[in-house]
Amino acid sequence: MITLSCPLRMSMKMPSSFCHSQFCTSSSNLAGRILAPIMVQALDFSNNFFLGTPIIRNPNYNFHQNEIWVLRRNRQARGMVGGRVTTTANEGIQTDSTTLTSLVSVDPPRGTRDFPPEDMRLRSWLFQHFREVSRLFAFEEIDFPVLESEELFVRKAGEEITQQLYNFEDKGGRRVALRPELTPSLARLVLQKGKSLSLPLKWFAIGQCWRYERMTRGRRREHYQWNMDIIGISGVEAEAELLSAIVTFFTRLGITASDVGIKISNRKVLQAVLARYSIPDESFAAVCVIVDKIEKLPRSEIENELAALQVPSDAIDGILQALTLKSLDDLEDLLGAESGAVAELKQLFALADGYGFSDWLNFDASVVRGLAYYTGTVFEAFDRERKLRAICGGGRYDQLLSTYGGADTPACGFGFGDAVIIELLKERNLMPELGHVVDDVVLALEDHLKAPAAMVAAHLRNAGRVVDLVLETKRLKWVFKHTERLHAKRLVLLGATEWNRGTLRVKDLITREESDVTLDDLLT
Ligand code: HAM
Repeated sequence: MITLSCPLRMSMKMPSSFCHSQFCTSSSNLAGRILAPIMVQALDFSNNFFLGTPIIRNPNYNFHQNEIWVLRRNRQARGMVGGRVTTTANEGIQTDSTTLTSLVSVDPPRGTRDFPPEDMRLRSWLFQHFREVSRLFAFEEIDFPVLESEELFVRKAGEEITQQLYNFEDKGGRRVALRPELTPSLARLVLQKGKSLSLPLKWFAIGQCWRYERMTRGRRREHYQWNMDIIGISGVEAEAELLSAIVTFFTRLGITASDVGIKISNRKVLQAVLARYSIPDESFAAVCVIVDKIEKLPRSEIENELAALQVPSDAIDGILQALTLKSLDDLEDLLGAESGAVAELKQLFALADGYGFSDWLNFDASVVRGLAYYTGTVFEAFDRERKLRAICGGGRYDQLLSTYGGADTPACGFGFGDAVIIELLKERNLMPELGHVVDDVVLALEDHLKAPAAMVAAHLRNAGRVVDLVLETKRLKWVFKHTERLHAKRLVLLGATEWNRGTLRVKDLITREESDVTLDDLLT
């Protein structure tokens, strides 16, 4: 691809083949000699058209201000005003510039993606696994608007996510935001439905989230998240069920416990440490948000941020020391056998044994998670080679609903992004091969057979076959290439002689055998 720049600081990408045949000075046709920079008004790559308006005058040619240039691959260039051809140029207009300018960028906004068919196939494949695993665990699918009230995401604990908000005022003067995550919308929906809901709820959602992030591998400004949440269960049985779903998902994709681990801890660990130093409960969320950055920031910065929250230096040492623990026995030594955190973690590991996925789990007190609302278990899946960012993460958030004015309601869940998992599949050579699946290509060899061809296609589709009906009149040579491109299994031809005899010509594109068959034969 070549990036073509423009004075408005917009740019567009064009296939290099397109540019070469159109604009390089080495080409022998007119398009090769042309042109002074032109301002693009419209593009149609499928037909190799390029429409543009000259914006810089070339001394060899008097461009008309309102002129539109139509350039076709290997053809002449034509200047037109209002559809009337004013100039046909085939030589003599020279420039040494291949710079083009565009009115709009054809790239999606930075950090966002288009999904052309091959990428959309991958996305659909991934989402199908998300849905299928959720269905196996008897979760029901829900959805919410991408645009929410800004107030839903305003929290005061200093989380990164709230600083990365895509927020603005709508035309009615309301403060709105593109959702950076799904959990607040879930809480809003649960509150809105109120008593009409019978708990527990097991809900899942797949939705696009927006965060104005610094872009790194697997982190972008828009991503899709699969969420599974259980509302109304206070025991760690809920966390165990969610973790089992995550492991089921990994296993379906061919990922094993030697590829991925799930680090688990419990925010009650930090709560207990803070209580020892009499640090007020109001500071708890903010302390969690700070210590979550322990692997990203130098220790001195963490210490300064904690000190700014009035956390005394002996407490800072105590907190940072507790975060280094990697075994439940050590945790028990620190907090005592009666500690709620220890009891919950032990029970969770016992349940994981029962499910059969404990080899995926590691207790790691440094996992705190950067979202303010977690109150208990917290977990994150990571690749054991440590090349990638967190694959998914979640935890218990029993007090989120009350921050929106509802009653405290036990809740836990996870968010699983669509970006890091793809990176991991690439790393492990586990990417699926997903071709465009077409069973039959149907072609009328003559115009008057188009209606019968449509009828044949309709019958085949009713029988559940994927049919590409050739809509234009095309030569056989083109159609054979077309079937190859689509990896079609059969070519069904309607020719006058066969059709008059009540048959169709069918070519099996795998065995290369040809035969004349009736429509009934074709359908059986
Ligand atoms: P989170 O850790 O912010 O948690 O995001 C969950 C997952 O979403 C991450 O582990 C990652 O897979 C993906 N993700 C997050 N940000 C990006 C990004 N900028 N680009 C690509 N992927 C990203 C939450 O959002 C919680 N609401 C999850 C949750 C649900 N907790 C309870 N229920």
